[in-house]
Amino acid sequence: MKSYSYFIPLSLFIIPFLITITQAQDLINSTCKTFSQTDPNIDYNFCTTSLQAANGSHCTTVDGLGKISLRLVHDNVTDTKCYIKHLIRKGKWDPYIRQCLGDCLQLFSDATASVDEAIKYYDAKKFDDANVQISSVMDGATTCEDGFKERRGIVSPLTKRNDNVFQLTAVALSVMHMVQTGSG
Ligand SMILES: *[C@@H]1O[C@H](CO)[C@@H](O)[C@H](O)[C@H]1NC(C)=O
Ligand SMILES: *[C@@H]1O[C@H](CO)[C@@H](O)[C@H](O)[C@H]1NC(C)=O
Ligand SMILES: *[C@@H]1O[C@H](CO)[C@@H](O)[C@H](O)[C@H]1NC(C)=O
Repeated sequence: MKSYSYFIPLSLFIIPFLITITQAQDLINSTCKTFSQTDPNIDYNFCTTSLQAANGSHCTTVDGLGKISLRLVHDNVTDTKCYIKHLIRKGKWDPYIRQCLGDCLQLFSDATASVDEAIKYYDAKKFDDANVQISSVMDGATTCEDGFKERRGIVSPLTKRNDNVFQLTAVALSVMHMVQTGSG
């Protein structure tokens, strides 16, 4: 009987907890489904995996997802900037690649500043301004990657990272749109 008397109080905590997790997953899944159907830049699996891995995403609202997606962009951009610095320092690069990396470093430095601005605008509910900043981060990743493509036979060492940033910004733009239009 003793274990039974523990069972009830415990389940009172665990069941709502499980329900909350399921609802948050539902939110992420259904949101990502909508995005992937309306935006060709968003892959469903990328969207759900990224959002579900984020801290705090298991108990949140659409508004919270906006904040989380901006934080993901922030962390990715900051990490990529650091990584480019590291590549420049450690590598003996072909001069053309070295120049591209320098351009990318500048683009990602600008991008970190833009994400910080975007987060401030988002908190102030200035969604159009936040949108402009995040769009410029997206363009930055594209411009960085395109630099390497301009010369034949050159392989970008940043393709995967640029792609992550591109997709994360696409997700952030879609979430912000959803928050702004109240369609979540
Ligand atoms: C959400 O999607 C993931 C994989 O995409 C799946 O494993 C999970 O069961 C889904 N959760 C809900 C509540 O539908
Ligand atoms: C960047 O985003 C990708 C995709 O969500 C993730 O796999 C990766 O761990 C992130 N990197 C950092 C440093 O946050
Ligand atoms: C999530 O939070 C835990 C505990 O606070 C921390 O150890 C972990 O580094 C965080 N992960 C990310 C990706 O921020």
